[in-house]
Amino acid sequence: ARVVVLVSGAGSNLAALLAAHDDAAYGARVVGVVSDRADAGGLDLAREAGVAAVAVRPGDFEDRAAWDAAVAQAVDVFRPDVVVLAGFMRILGPAFVGRFAGRTINTHPALLPSFPGAHGVRDALAHGVKVAGCTVHVVDDGVDTGPIIAQVAVPVEDADDESSLHERIKIAERALLVETVGRVAREGLRVEGRRVVLGPR
Ligand code: GRF
Repeated sequence: ARVVVLVSGAGSNLAALLAAHDDAAYGARVVGVVSDRADAGGLDLAREAGVAAVAVRPGDFEDRAAWDAAVAQAVDVFRPDVVVLAGFMRILGPAFVGRFAGRTINTHPALLPSFPGAHGVRDALAHGVKVAGCTVHVVDDGVDTGPIIAQVAVPVEDADDESSLHERIKIAERALLVETVGRVAREGLRVEGRRVVLGPR
């Protein structure tokens, strides 16, 4: 299956997917990487792995709708079977979500529906949770609201700050994302209301 990954930051989730895709049995290949930032580390990781990488910057477009359409076009060029948002820090509009509906998945560093949004780790820590975690879900037209595919719980340590907790979450998150993308790529996914059904394990 052809996978396109959208990133905004360091791209450690992307790095894990690139490592996995070298195994032919994985069933998915990252064929393109798109970022909203020209300086995203994930773009360099892609290029070092020989994967096409392009930045589509909001500042280059007259409004969000034009940017949204440009991102969708940039993704379309790679003919994706699955689109993965891996640390992508912008909200994609209905034009994008609609074009890749049912085959766009996102990873979020909290146990949704708790702590959605751009500061899930910080919000969970501030709330005093003892268990944090990460969620891989289908992207719908809300923010971090789509049907959940998989989750992993991560313990919070007393001495944690946002950075130490996020690093611990990211260890679990990378593994969860690699496994989930592989299963979706090999087996496909079906959404039935709030439930997501992957193919036979
Ligand atoms: C990930 O934890 C992602 O869930 C969150 O930001 C982090 C991005 O990490 N939105 P990276 O860019 O994959 O290293």
